[in-house]
Amino acid sequence: MKIKLGVIFGGETVEHEVSIISALQAIKSIDKTKYDVVPLYIAKDRTWYYGNILKDIDTYKDFNNVKKYLKKVVLCKKNNRYLLQNTTGLFRKDIDELDVVLPVVHGNNVEDGTLAGYLDTIGIPYVSSRVLGSALGQDKVVMKQVMSACNIPVVDYVWFYDSEYLSESEEILKQIKKMGFPVIVKPSTLGSSIGISKAKNEKELKTAIDEALEYDTKIVVEKAIENLTEVNASVLGNYETSKVSPLEEVMGEDEILSYQDKYLSGSKSKTGGSKGMASTNRIIPARIGDKLTKEIQETALKTFKALNLSGVCRIDFLIDNDTKKFYVNEPNTIPGSLSYYLWKEDNLEYKDLLNEMINLCIKEYKNRSRKTRAFESNILEGFNGSKGSKGLKQ
Ligand SMILES: Nc1ncnc2c1ncn2[C@@H]1O[C@H](COP(=O)(O)OP(=O)(O)O)[C@@H](O)[C@H]1O
Ligand SMILES: [Mg+2]
Repeated sequence: MKIKLGVIFGGETVEHEVSIISALQAIKSIDKTKYDVVPLYIAKDRTWYYGNILKDIDTYKDFNNVKKYLKKVVLCKKNNRYLLQNTTGLFRKDIDELDVVLPVVHGNNVEDGTLAGYLDTIGIPYVSSRVLGSALGQDKVVMKQVMSACNIPVVDYVWFYDSEYLSESEEILKQIKKMGFPVIVKPSTLGSSIGISKAKNEKELKTAIDEALEYDTKIVVEKAIENLTEVNASVLGNYETSKVSPLEEVMGEDEILSYQDKYLSGSKSKTGGSKGMASTNRIIPARIGDKLTKEIQETALKTFKALNLSGVCRIDFLIDNDTKKFYVNEPNTIPGSLSYYLWKEDNLEYKDLLNEMINLCIKEYKNRSRKTRAFESNILEGFNGSKGSKGLKQ
């Protein structure tokens, strides 16, 4: 029997469109002899939609007019089954059933552990990092704190909340100046280079912070690497086993690899749409020599473990060509195009990559299911309001 695979994408995130591209690529590549694919689209207003036309990129060009052909649904657990129920009408109707979920979401409100948490609450297996790894992977400050604690190299940085910047901007600016210009200013929890800019002096710094504050309450200001090479490695696995792909060297037209560089440059697909991350200008393998390549690959595996990641991730590195030192820039817990193009270099076709990801997920789910998750207790029997038990948590 085929496995019913729900592919969830979209969400209220600035990377909404990128997620649509990544998801449709994955849907096209999934082995249809093994899986029945059910696309599930979370629109920008957070409504979940169901229907076959979600597999077609044209659906999203005029979504407001097309959505009448789709069903609004929720995913829930009933009688030990994971059901999709239609939410229009007086009574909810079961319209489909899933076995496993493949989340292909990018950014806040979805990739940051929120979707993982929802799926865990229901109990359905899903092919990505779990709540902790997903949340760590989204916050550029906390990820650095964890990586530093694990002796993984990260660039120098200063971070603050918007409220702190309002009340003590002088002190914050002083700390940044002490670190030294140029710096890169980033919203802590965004992605796809949105809200990120470089500042070479105090005036530019203030403008850059104001821009980043438009997007986030938490800001990170990093020491900029001027003579920079950017390389990325994909890691596939879970807490038990992991392997690393060849490295890609990515190149942008500006100082900062921009949204434009990542998704809109390079060749377009035959249907005229963007190819997502698969279209970025890149060289594989990165031209950095065997020794550095090996060191970076090992650090990618170490980062994957330290941050509790699973599924397919991409760990991005910054190399300072002057000092030859490298730093982990960030993990991408659900990378654009699921990094399939990196695994292709390792002779793993996209279809086989997806297959491996799903198999790993099901195996881990079975392992976890064997752990004791509840134990019999009679604590509530003796509970009779205010006079009874001392409370449940001591
Ligand atoms: N410390 C840094 N020094 C130099 N360039 C940087 C630094 N941090 C980021 N960049 C540039 O900005 C781009 C986007 O930053 P990144 O942290 O990867 O954000 P996002 O999560 O939006 O991808 C990087 O790909 C790189 O080109
Ligand atoms: Mg990045």
